[in-house]
Amino acid sequence: MNQLHSAPDCSASGGDREGGPAPGGTEFFAELTAGLSVATVFRQNESLAKRTTLRVGGSADFYVEPATEEELAQVLQTCGRHRIPFVLLGRGSNLLVRDGGIRGVVICLAHPHFSRIEISGHRLLCGAGAKLKQVATEAKRGQLTGLEFLEGIPGTVGGALRMNAGAMDGWMFDVVESLRYMDVNGQAHEEPAAAVKVEYRSCPLLKDNIAMGAVLKGHPAARDVVEKRMKAFSQKRWDSQPAAPSAGCIFKNPGTIPAGRLIDELGLKGARVGDAMVSLEHGNFIINEGHASAKDVLELIETVREQAKAKRGIELELEVQVIGDN
Ligand code: EPU
Repeated sequence: MNQLHSAPDCSASGGDREGGPAPGGTEFFAELTAGLSVATVFRQNESLAKRTTLRVGGSADFYVEPATEEELAQVLQTCGRHRIPFVLLGRGSNLLVRDGGIRGVVICLAHPHFSRIEISGHRLLCGAGAKLKQVATEAKRGQLTGLEFLEGIPGTVGGALRMNAGAMDGWMFDVVESLRYMDVNGQAHEEPAAAVKVEYRSCPLLKDNIAMGAVLKGHPAARDVVEKRMKAFSQKRWDSQPAAPSAGCIFKNPGTIPAGRLIDELGLKGARVGDAMVSLEHGNFIINEGHASAKDVLELIETVREQAKAKRGIELELEVQVIGDN
């Protein structure tokens, strides 16, 4: 058996935790850990609050950062054989983890193997774990325009593909040429972006498949032109969005009115449950003022939805992904 990455709550010799047997059973634990190399990060009972931008939520039974595609495939296959659920975690910026945490395995592609960014002509070859801010910075270094809007999205390439993330009138799939993904059986695939169905804030293909990377395309431009655009976007964002911990926009924009304006018009800015508060800067953000729980945030979300429905007849749909146990 390969040695595991050392972590305080990681047991290489068995699946037992204080208080009972390993979730999924010792057989699952043994199989899950058997093929992991020293380079792979593996932890049990990993707090997810520190891994989400909203900073709420419980722990994951298992947390893995695979070091190779083979190890990612192995984790997926083991989960499949034992019918243990898994969840992909990017930068945790569009995510609300409930206070009971996640039963099963959380997989994060933060290992350098999955987070590289390489410039090749007018293209950027990006791993799913690469941060969007770094992608934008690399594009600037390579004197490529068109990717500046990624600068302010607090996510990874993988998360942005899954959500077809957007800002400043740009969508992730505007700049994707092709993507690589793995299916739940551990099989890798490559697809031109033109063949992939995308929607506002969703790429359905990646609901059941795992993005591993993408080729993004830019257009040649002088470095100072790219820099100027990035600065303008950044300024607009700082002027209109809160700096406090949040999950980005909570609701999708309904067709008729931006959710932020609607919530503002309803007079709900500053509404709070515990330490969760509707941002004073932007109505579609809920911020964590320090010690909010997921329950606080969910209650506040319900209040906003109820008021939108009762007073304006609008059903607000969540953009943020809510996962985990109560
Ligand atoms: N507005 C208000 N009050 C508010 C907030 C907004 O009146 O409290 C008004 C603004 O003045 C503007 C309109 O509503 O006229 C739209 O606001 P904004 O320009 O901030 O854009 P948005 O539609 O609220 C979208 C994305 C953001 C992205 C921004 C900037 C969605 C749900 N949100 O926000 O994405 O950063 O554009 O491009 O599509 C995210 O998805 O998490 C996110 C933050």
